[in-house]
Amino acid sequence: MATGTSLSDLFPLGSRLNDLGRLEVGGCDTIELAREFGTPAYVVAEEDLRARARAFLQAGRDAGQADFRVVFASKAFPCTAVLELFAQEGLWCDVASGGELFLALNAGFDAARIVVHGNAKSEAELRGALREGVAAIVIDNFDEIDRLERLIGAGAVAGAAGSRSQPVLVRVTPDVRGDTHEKISTGQADSKFGFAMADAPAAIARVREAHGLLLQGLHAHIGSQLLGLEPFRREVAELARLGDFPVWDLGGGLGVRYTEQQPAPPSIEEYVTALVRAAQAHGMGADGRRLLIEPGRALCANACVTLYTVESVKQNVSRWVAVDGGMSDNLRPMLYGAPYEAYVADRFAGASSCVLAGKHCESGDVVVREAMLADPKPGDVIVTPATGAYGYAMANNYNGVRRAPVIFCRDGDARVVVRRETFEELTARDVP
Ligand code: LLP
Repeated sequence: MATGTSLSDLFPLGSRLNDLGRLEVGGCDTIELAREFGTPAYVVAEEDLRARARAFLQAGRDAGQADFRVVFASKAFPCTAVLELFAQEGLWCDVASGGELFLALNAGFDAARIVVHGNAKSEAELRGALREGVAAIVIDNFDEIDRLERLIGAGAVAGAAGSRSQPVLVRVTPDVRGDTHEKISTGQADSKFGFAMADAPAAIARVREAHGLLLQGLHAHIGSQLLGLEPFRREVAELARLGDFPVWDLGGGLGVRYTEQQPAPPSIEEYVTALVRAAQAHGMGADGRRLLIEPGRALCANACVTLYTVESVKQNVSRWVAVDGGMSDNLRPMLYGAPYEAYVADRFAGASSCVLAGKHCESGDVVVREAMLADPKPGDVIVTPATGAYGYAMANNYNGVRRAPVIFCRDGDARVVVRRETFEELTARDVP
């Protein structure tokens, strides 16, 4: 719970309650933002994104890893302005589809800083990655090795045919399960991603002999929203059993704080230090070795708040506060039962228990099951913190709701980087 003018770390860095008792993000008054840009809206503190990117890079340097790359998992917030910002900060980018590759290139990421993922990459997606000359394609399965060999044999690789090999990593499922929602756990043996430990040596051997592929190393990603460091250390130990490679991509997964009740996640520094130390202990960080990590959520979740407007308040068994968004702008409560907090943007104190409901035609469309709100009334602006990761990314048009804008705020200036969708755009793909 926020008290006085200080705010918890759920909110973007630099957020505060101003003299009017209103939430300010990036120096901008959220009540004014709601008035100017409408709601729902994703409000992002630009400096927060930059600070987290820098913290990741600095932590790698401080841990003494000379070649350390922070690869933004673009699926977390695949918005051009966010991608541009991270490209400027010197991050690399992880893409998991042809669409994400397009977005990353379009936002200015050099292909040589793009890592391509996917458990079901199409031929077209592989051809695109080869043509662009991406930093690495992360191989997920034996069929993909065959496909890549065939495409390269047919001249799909960038540069003069045969003159360049495509760098690849082999994705391994290290049979490490972190403590997270089953839908976002990926490291267990029975996973749809990557090669099982038992199959990894054969996959490595097969890639080594494949024409046109340059095996650089291994990749693993054990899951997302992980709040403990031990699974990451086990992941590193498992990978190390598979040999010595110049490149190790340890995936993403560092969790963030969504509510005050939730245990605090490790800090960026603690997480990076633990990973780098573990890697170094196994010789994976030695001279000439490159370490990559792929944070998504930890780079952007807490940099953003969502603003809504209350449309109605009703009391039956519970007090229902209905807002103008919901599962179309934040699917996470619906998909994972993910908890959030909510506040009236200009009345943080004096809250009582409410259900913050979305506007969609499903009883499950609840943004916050146990919200503590101060006397909410129609017209009030509601804010939910920690919505920067996988909110915009999984936004949809259910019930014909238009997707929300993204507003970047910095030093008191607000700019729209993605505008609200129009009704006409709901018919944009119709073929008359
Ligand atoms: N690398 C790979 C290969 C991944 O599959 C993912 C996430 C990441 C990195 C980034 O993970 P992060 O640091 O964000 O935990 N929609 C879900 C999250 C799905 C994550 C999928 N993969 C959610 O809203 O919680």
